[in-house]
Amino acid sequence: MKTQSDLMEKIVSLAKRRGFIFPGSDIYGGLANSWDYGPLGVELKNNIKQLWWKKFVQNRDDIVGIDSALIMNPKVWEASGHIATFNDPMVECKNCSYRDRDEKIKCPNCGAQDWNSPRQFNLMFKTHLGPVESKENIVYLRPETAQGMFVNLKNVLDTSRKTIPFGIAQIGKAFRNEITPGNFIFRTREFEQMEIEYFINPKDDWNKHFEYWLEQMKDWLKEIGVTENLEFVEIEKDKRAHYSKRTIDIEYKYPFGQKELYGLAYRGDFDLVNHQKSSGHSLEYSDPKTNEKFVPHVIEPTWGVDRSILALLLEAYCEEENHVILKINPRLAPYKAAVFPLLANKPELVKLARKIYDDLRPRFMTAWDDRGNIGKRYYSQDEIGTPFCVTVDFDSFEDQKVTVRDRDSMKQERVAIKGLEDYLSDKLNV
Ligand code: GAP
Repeated sequence: MKTQSDLMEKIVSLAKRRGFIFPGSDIYGGLANSWDYGPLGVELKNNIKQLWWKKFVQNRDDIVGIDSALIMNPKVWEASGHIATFNDPMVECKNCSYRDRDEKIKCPNCGAQDWNSPRQFNLMFKTHLGPVESKENIVYLRPETAQGMFVNLKNVLDTSRKTIPFGIAQIGKAFRNEITPGNFIFRTREFEQMEIEYFINPKDDWNKHFEYWLEQMKDWLKEIGVTENLEFVEIEKDKRAHYSKRTIDIEYKYPFGQKELYGLAYRGDFDLVNHQKSSGHSLEYSDPKTNEKFVPHVIEPTWGVDRSILALLLEAYCEEENHVILKINPRLAPYKAAVFPLLANKPELVKLARKIYDDLRPRFMTAWDDRGNIGKRYYSQDEIGTPFCVTVDFDSFEDQKVTVRDRDSMKQERVAIKGLEDYLSDKLNV
């Protein structure tokens, strides 16, 4: 198990050095715990989101997607219980107003040890809608994507001809004014979620659906290559979120400890009943076959995009023969292939390599490298997880073939230029 204390440092440094993830607002000295995805990071992130969308929306009959607004009517958060209960207890320093969870320590900001008694602080980010900063105009940045799916249930049912059981999926940003952010992209105040609200008949066996979704989540983990260092933890009643009747946290053994990666919750009818009461609109479903009417119950599998990235970088990071290989699932790798002319100063080699590069690009994210020697170029691509390197050499003019080198086996094969695209797509399974 790769839990060396320096593994996180290596990942953070590789992420910055190679353009996966930069400290946010870097030229201004950063902004605490904010991170920006760079050219390779955004590819990895998009690939994860696309794979998820394909698996859970495109390839299924029973799930449709939406993309709802980040700022919703504040009544949504009253009804969902987030205004009343999405709190963490904190103490405030009487001297400098610094807030912390722990009253037993000296204030990390001013050194005093004079705390107010603990109070509840809401984790939602507040702002004002429009030009007037009044109480009436307070709105919140959403702390979960889920509510966008609950409040659109009726709209989706009216337009998509789905029948229960069925789900709504959404990928998007969520915001929480976390008290203890940290550990790189593990806990940030702005992050991305991939969530499904799966609506079922309350008479149906919810446990059956719950177990089904647990298997789906395990399947997903296999697909992205996170198969070790996992624990499935049943959460006790008093530790569950206010809406949940059963929760399993999928936890990962990060170098800084075992903590949540994803979650699976049975939300019952908590959200829909409250939105019904609060909005005055019926959120009942009418079964077209039996005419039975009911408020659906909800199973909610939820995935953090950023934690997916962290877990898969930790799993994929390998050091072999004094160089780093990122053994990412090829489908998720930022670049699928890299093309090299054997020598950069031979125009005819460069010309042929450039043609192969241009031909591959519409199909795959492809890198170009003509610096240094071939060995260095292989190492450079290994470090960012590129599954295949394609070298064009002088023999290529004779046999119309190129050398394809596999990242993981390091084996090299001569492949016909004509069949290169099919060869790669076969190997990549895309
Ligand atoms: N709708 C249910 C919900 O939001 P959650 O367990 O609070 O449940 C879901 O969040 C997922 O979002 C977590 O499993 C985690 O992957 C991710 N997540 C939550 N808070 C986060 C944070 N501060 N930074 C990064 N990811 C976070």
